[in-house]
Amino acid sequence: MYKIAVAGTGYVGLVAGVTFAEVGHHVTCVDIDEEKVKLMKSGVSPIYEVGLDELMQKNYAAGRLDYTTDYESAYKDADAIFLGVGTPEQADGSANLSYIATVARQVAETIEKDCLVVVKSTVPVGTNDKVQQFIQDFLIHDVKVEVASNPEFLSQGSAVHDTMHAARIIIGTESKWAEDRLMEIYEPFQLPIVSVNRRSAEMIKYASNDFLALKISYMNDIANLCELVGADVQDVARGMSFDERIGSKFLNAGIGFGGSCFPKDTKALDYIARQNGYELKTIKAAIDVNKDQKTALYKKASKRLITFSGLKVAVLGLTFKPGTDDLREAPSLDNVPLLLEQGADIYAYDPVGAEHFAKFYPEGRNGNGSITYVSNVEQALKDGNVCFVFTEWGEVKAVTPEMYKNLMRTPLIYDGRNIYSVDDMKEVGVEYYSIGRQAVSRSHVNESEMIKLQTSRY
Ligand code: UDX
Repeated sequence: MYKIAVAGTGYVGLVAGVTFAEVGHHVTCVDIDEEKVKLMKSGVSPIYEVGLDELMQKNYAAGRLDYTTDYESAYKDADAIFLGVGTPEQADGSANLSYIATVARQVAETIEKDCLVVVKSTVPVGTNDKVQQFIQDFLIHDVKVEVASNPEFLSQGSAVHDTMHAARIIIGTESKWAEDRLMEIYEPFQLPIVSVNRRSAEMIKYASNDFLALKISYMNDIANLCELVGADVQDVARGMSFDERIGSKFLNAGIGFGGSCFPKDTKALDYIARQNGYELKTIKAAIDVNKDQKTALYKKASKRLITFSGLKVAVLGLTFKPGTDDLREAPSLDNVPLLLEQGADIYAYDPVGAEHFAKFYPEGRNGNGSITYVSNVEQALKDGNVCFVFTEWGEVKAVTPEMYKNLMRTPLIYDGRNIYSVDDMKEVGVEYYSIGRQAVSRSHVNESEMIKLQTSRY
């Protein structure tokens, strides 16, 4: 078993560190934040991720996992150092590599034995060659150091499971020594390993993420056309999914992709292409479609209503997807300011994201409107006029058409995740709009109320 250090305790770093310990390696996670280190030592994860706390407690107690701010002690005799620090997007779409550079320098100045430096963070193609050179330049001791690329494919909300059961491990190395060491580190996971060179590994990460983003934008584009021609995008997706070449995953139309990866990685690849004098037309289109899609429902609602001013608007779900407290690039952040600007009185519900959201939009009056955070779906809907569904949390999915009808004053639902049945809404008589599917408009509702009236008469 190896002695491993992990730099950065965000989603990528912490989950990597904990799972390495779980398979038997000795791991020290390094972070600059003293408070965070204290929290982790007490067995609490700074990020919300199913099953992570349990694994942290178990491996810490077993002595295989530790946390520190003292990078020197963690790096100096490590067999491998994994970099899981952030590479945030800059204004021009490029990735900010300053955290990578800081850690690379610390590594160069502290390691006292041969060491494999493994970059897990998503970095532009060619970055790891530069990291290799950078470390070499600042190296103090006479040791061998090699940089490998090992991109991460975990999804937030299922990060531990995704890591322990990954579809594949991508390793990008430039020598047999580095390849063998990285293969051995991953051997206990018993997962398929794809071994390529460093640049290909870096590219696999972008190409994979951007392909998925493209798939979503494609389905959103098709969804918008479905609405115009009277087709149902969910039926279309189901029909497509039987073709194994297409597959059944990531065909869900909605209000666009968010999160820490797809928005950033599409822009980064577009930037890399432009830097190389190439125009990546497909990815540009995926970015464009996504931008429009995020406010598609708001635009629909604006056409339907004269104003949002004085209306009680329920917002169900704030995070970019269920199972996480992450708000990065969440559609709620595009829509809530528009609603507030139009004078809406928002009642927002999210099982884990509300506290964080309140940092951007504090409870109370906000511009022309107001926002109130509530602790359950019923409170959000009570006496409401309009409801927007932004995240498909279980408790939001569980809301029935009857609840909308009975709790709200004027049930008018905009479902950004296509989680309810159009037929059920029609049956109960709830005005309902979603993405790429038939709308249950006011006239349908009146029609269903008429039918009910008639049925009750006879
Ligand atoms: C993604 C990748 O899945 C993961 O492999 C990579 O390492 C990081 O980026 P993540 O951002 O955690 O993971 O979430 P994911 O479940 O992929 O969803 C991303 C966004 O796409 C979400 O906003 C989600 O709502 C949206 N999405 C996903 C759709 O709109 N439709 C779909 O069919 C699938």
